[in-house]
Amino acid sequence: MKIAVLAGDGIGPEVIAEALRVIETLALPGLTMFEGDVGGTAYKRHGHPLPAETLQMARAADGVLFGAVGDPDCDDLPREYRPEQAILGLRSELGLFANLRPAAGFPGLEDFSPLKPELARGIDLLVVRELNGDVYFGNKGERDGEGGREGWDMMSYSQSEVRRIAHTAFAAAQKRRRKVTSVDKANVLETSRIWRDTVIEVARDYPDVALEHMYVDNAAMQMVRSPGQFDTILTGNLFGDILSDQASACVGSIGLLASASLGERQTAFGTFGLYEPIHGSAPDIAGRNKANPVAAILSLAMLLRHSLGRDADAGRVERAVSQTLSDGVLGADLGGSATTREIGDAVISALVTIS
Ligand code: IPM
Ligand code: MG
Repeated sequence: MKIAVLAGDGIGPEVIAEALRVIETLALPGLTMFEGDVGGTAYKRHGHPLPAETLQMARAADGVLFGAVGDPDCDDLPREYRPEQAILGLRSELGLFANLRPAAGFPGLEDFSPLKPELARGIDLLVVRELNGDVYFGNKGERDGEGGREGWDMMSYSQSEVRRIAHTAFAAAQKRRRKVTSVDKANVLETSRIWRDTVIEVARDYPDVALEHMYVDNAAMQMVRSPGQFDTILTGNLFGDILSDQASACVGSIGLLASASLGERQTAFGTFGLYEPIHGSAPDIAGRNKANPVAAILSLAMLLRHSLGRDADAGRVERAVSQTLSDGVLGADLGGSATTREIGDAVISALVTIS
């Protein structure tokens, strides 16, 4: 079993360090880990945010544990050298088309949600976001036009791209509350009309799952009005980017939520994937032992489950995190004073008591 560890920029290295201490505590037999540079850190050391060696290391692994990329020093670089290109490059080069972003309320933390506690308590949803298409990867460019600079990003989706992510969402929904809300903008966009027709086709294979369609503007409103109505949200790259941040805020803190990006490749242990906290590099608090490592630790749990076939260990890590939070070991993002290291310590001591 091989894990590639790409900690990246800002708070990435601090939160990943805690996830690594957790995995050491599990003492998995036959596990090897490799560390690589990515993002602004990689640009500064190697002149590229996604060096060939890093990509190679990721390809050779069974799973990738990823911290965060983003560095204000790199803001003025041409697009291909910006840190964000590293994660986009990994997603496309590794064929990671399915992004799973679960958001569920943590008992006792409802007060940190900007929503009324009774609404926050009811949140238990999964955003299934397509990750290899849409405006993110369509033709883009810029030119001088009559109205000054003019830019474009082409939004496109093919039926085969929609089909495979729809299968991911329906299969995920079968293990949840068996409801898929497909989010699009079919009243305006051609891509969304193809999206909707294709999702309806795929739904025929899953008669036990209820399907509804929602325009993205309405979905954004419904998510704050009554988030408990959502089970599995199936959507494209751009809408999924926006709605998943919104879902995380509804839960209380972006510092708590993990994500998995999966492709089709199966390894000897499970599905190859990349796992990352959904928060970013937070340069304003980097290096100050203030970041919440929970999202990174929960990303590790997702890696154990999906890529290493270690479901029981994943469950143990998740229970250790829940216990830490319910014991009131909270970081600054949740009004507490625990440091990154102290939260890691608490998760590890909980973990050793859980069998
Ligand atoms: C995310 C991030 C990325 C995205 C950025 C860093 C490119 O916002 O993972 O949600 O837009 O996908
Ligand atoms: Mg985002």
